[in-house]
Amino acid sequence: MSKTISGFSKLSKSKKIDWIVDTYFSNKEAAKTVLKQYWNSNEKLQQLHDEFIENTITNYYLPLGVAPNFLINDKTYTIPMAIEESSVVAAASKAAKFWSDRGGFKAEVISTTKIGQVHFIFNGETEKLKSFFNSTKSKLIEDTHVITKNMEARGGGILDIELRDKTTAIEGYYQLHATFETLDAMGANFINSCLEQFAKTLKTEAESKLDNSIEIVMSILSNYVPDCLVKAEVSCPVNALSDDNSITGEDFANKFLQAVNIAEVEPYRAVTHNKGIMNGIDAVVLATGNDFRAVEAGVHAYASRNGVYSSLTHAEVKDGIFKFWIEIPLALGTVGGLTSLHPLVKLSLEMLNKPSAKELMQIVAVAGLAQNFAAIRSLVTTGIQQGHMKMHLMNILNQFEATLEEKEQLVEHFKSNTITHSAVIEAIENLRR
Ligand code: MEV
Repeated sequence: MSKTISGFSKLSKSKKIDWIVDTYFSNKEAAKTVLKQYWNSNEKLQQLHDEFIENTITNYYLPLGVAPNFLINDKTYTIPMAIEESSVVAAASKAAKFWSDRGGFKAEVISTTKIGQVHFIFNGETEKLKSFFNSTKSKLIEDTHVITKNMEARGGGILDIELRDKTTAIEGYYQLHATFETLDAMGANFINSCLEQFAKTLKTEAESKLDNSIEIVMSILSNYVPDCLVKAEVSCPVNALSDDNSITGEDFANKFLQAVNIAEVEPYRAVTHNKGIMNGIDAVVLATGNDFRAVEAGVHAYASRNGVYSSLTHAEVKDGIFKFWIEIPLALGTVGGLTSLHPLVKLSLEMLNKPSAKELMQIVAVAGLAQNFAAIRSLVTTGIQQGHMKMHLMNILNQFEATLEEKEQLVEHFKSNTITHSAVIEAIENLRR
C-alpha cells in the first residue's frame, strides 16, 4: 500500500479514515474505534470542530480544569486552564490560596501596541525612497480605510508606519514597520489585511513615482510584541511567607531570591524556570481560545531581549517586604477568532466574567507568576517530585488499569510512602497477589 496520496483533503471524513487505517494499522477496526470514540455525539458540535482545521479525523481532548481563589486587583477569579500536565492546576490553586491570604495579586497593563511589517527590496537611492515614503504615507493609511473603519470607530486602528532601513543587514532590504492598537481583538487578521494593503499601495505608487521598482517579499504581523506588556506582582512582609514551621519566612525568602537570581543569570535554568511560567500561561491562553504558539514565541524572544536568555520573573526583599513580579508581552484577544466559536472557550470567558483583552492579559500574567511561585516554592523546600508524583500517581494507576477500590487503597498507602514509578508497580502487584 502506497503511503502517499493525492487529493486527500477532498475525500470525505470516513474515506480519509479508511485510507489511514488501511495504510498504517494492522488492526484496522481497533484504530477506527479509537478515532470514533472521541467523536462528539452532537453532530453539529462535531461538525464545528471538524471545520476548525483541514483533514480532521477526530478530536484530541485536553482536560479543562479550574484554579479557584485567585484574588487579582481585589477581584476574585476562578481561572480555567486547559492542560495535560498533572501538577499544574494543583500548583496554581495552591499559590492562589497562599496569596489570597496575603493581599492577592496586583496586575497592570503597561502597553498594548502590536506590530506588523512589510518586508521589501529596493535597490535605488535610500534618500529617494525616504522622500517617496514620506509623501506616500498618508495614502498608505487612506487605502486601508475599508479595513480600519470599524476598528477606528471603536478607538483602535493603525498607530503609525515607519520606513526602516535594514540595508546593513541585507542588501536592498527595507521595511514598513507599522504599529497597531487592536483593542479586544488579538488582531492578527486585521493587522495582516492592513499590511497586505500597504504592500499593494507601496508597489503601485512606486511604479509611477520611483525610478527603481519595489519588490515586496512578504507582509506579516510580528509575534514579538515588547510594547504589549503586562506586569503582575505579589508582595508581603518576609515573616508572613512561612505558613508552617518547616522554614522561617526569612530563610524561605533568601532561598527564593537565590533561585530567581540563578534563573536571571543562567540560561539552562532560565529555560526551565520560564517553562514552568508557561505551564500557567499556556493553559489559560488555550482555555480562552488564544494562540499559545504566538504567545510562546513572543515571550521567549522577550526573555532574550538583552542578548542572554533570562528569567521572566524577578524578586527582591526591601525593608522587610518580599516582592515577586513578572513582566511579559502578551497579545491576547477576547473577541474574534475562537472566542465566539468554541463552546468551551465561550464558557471559560464567561467564567472570567467576559474580560476585556487587557483584563485577560492581567489574569494570564498572574497565572504565570502563580505557577512560578509554586514551582520555586517546591524546588527550594520539599523538591518538585513530592507534589509532582502525588499528582502523577493517578496516571500510573490508570496505566495499570487499577480499579476504583485499588486506587483508594493505593492513594491511602502512598500518603505515608514515597511515590516512585517502581514503588507504585510493586504496590499494585502486592495488592493483586
Ligand atoms: C515542570 O513542568 C515545570 C518546572 O520544571 C518548573 C521549574 O523548574 O521552575 C517544575
